[in-house]
Amino acid sequence: MSSDTATLLRASRRPEPGSERSTERASERSDEQSVAADNSSFSVTFDRVGRVFAAERKRGASVGSLAVLDDISLTVAAGEILAILGTSGCGKSTLLRIAGGLDQPSAGSVTIDGTPVRGIDPRCAVGFQEPRLLPWRTVAGNVALGLPRGTARAAGEARVAELLALVGLADFADHRPREISGGMAQRASLARALARNPGVLLLDEPFGALDALTRLKMQDLLLDVHRAAPTTVLLVTHDVDEALQLADRIILLGRGDGDSAAGIRQSLVVPGVRPRDRGSAELAQLRAELLAGLGIDRHDGGAHDGQNNPHDVRHDDRHDVAAEAQEAERANAQSAAAAAESDRLTGLPASHSAGQTASFPF
Ligand SMILES: Nc1ncnc2c1ncn2[C@@H]1O[C@H](COP(=O)(O)OP(=O)(O)O)[C@@H](O)[C@H]1O
Ligand SMILES: [Mg+2]
Repeated sequence: MSSDTATLLRASRRPEPGSERSTERASERSDEQSVAADNSSFSVTFDRVGRVFAAERKRGASVGSLAVLDDISLTVAAGEILAILGTSGCGKSTLLRIAGGLDQPSAGSVTIDGTPVRGIDPRCAVGFQEPRLLPWRTVAGNVALGLPRGTARAAGEARVAELLALVGLADFADHRPREISGGMAQRASLARALARNPGVLLLDEPFGALDALTRLKMQDLLLDVHRAAPTTVLLVTHDVDEALQLADRIILLGRGDGDSAAGIRQSLVVPGVRPRDRGSAELAQLRAELLAGLGIDRHDGGAHDGQNNPHDVRHDDRHDVAAEAQEAERANAQSAAAAAESDRLTGLPASHSAGQTASFPF
């Protein structure tokens, strides 16, 4: 990222007192989050969080149950990047959904910045493996969907332009999703998530569907964005190397299948300033520990270029699809309202989107 872009982003998050921007905020948008939101990134605290799902329903009654998360206590510091690893089905997505208020814990509680999470939390933004762009909207129109509701048109357009520059899509603002690559679509999706200046960014395998090279570029982009505006990030990934590159700290969740408890099995701080040397011996040691924790033995001595993701422990998981569909349904009302609002900003007729946007919550 250019230093100009970084300065632009910082400026948008830290308006000078008395500046035109802060005056505009006070007068125009007193009752909603502002585009030039404050620079806060928030701590996230899980306090003895548990989640049990009813495994099966017969004649309306639950038969059996599935303890997915158990006794999770953890504080993610403001501005920290936490990576969450674990085999498929161990509850990574569930933990993220609980943090964002998209699901409720069966036990315990979550607070963001000391305040309990109750329902979909506007302090969070979410990014998924699929970019979930609306095909009939332009790239700019999709990014605008992430703006806080009620954002003034001019301020919204300026913010979208800033974000498109940040993610390298300034020349593609008027393109439709079908006209851009998968990596570009994912960058647009990241820009949409950043549009509201979220205090907490919840990323659920955001780069998992990208080819290896694009994935590495996206990792660099995320670090650039975080350096410019260090929001708190909870990143679910199947890729051990991605976790080692991006995170301040990594937790490994257990599966609760009898062999291990459904809680935090390992937690480790990743040493070294980012960007880290992918070939360092220190990281190789941590990689081996994490892979062992995931039940994967290594035989190649540790050399790894990060290109072909041999440590990607992704598994096909039909439950993810079901859970995300449910999540999208729950968020439908909110996204439809956001789409209508954004149509106002982008000049598209509201009928294009209102009531049709079940595909993503933020
Ligand atoms: N709404 C739900 N109802 C029932 N079971 C669920 C629901 N959401 C998730 N699960 C189950 O909880 C487990 C963990 O799911 P998830 O958090 O998506 O795992 P991960 O993201 O680690 O792959 C899975 O076995 C999944 O089937
Ligand atoms: Mg998942």
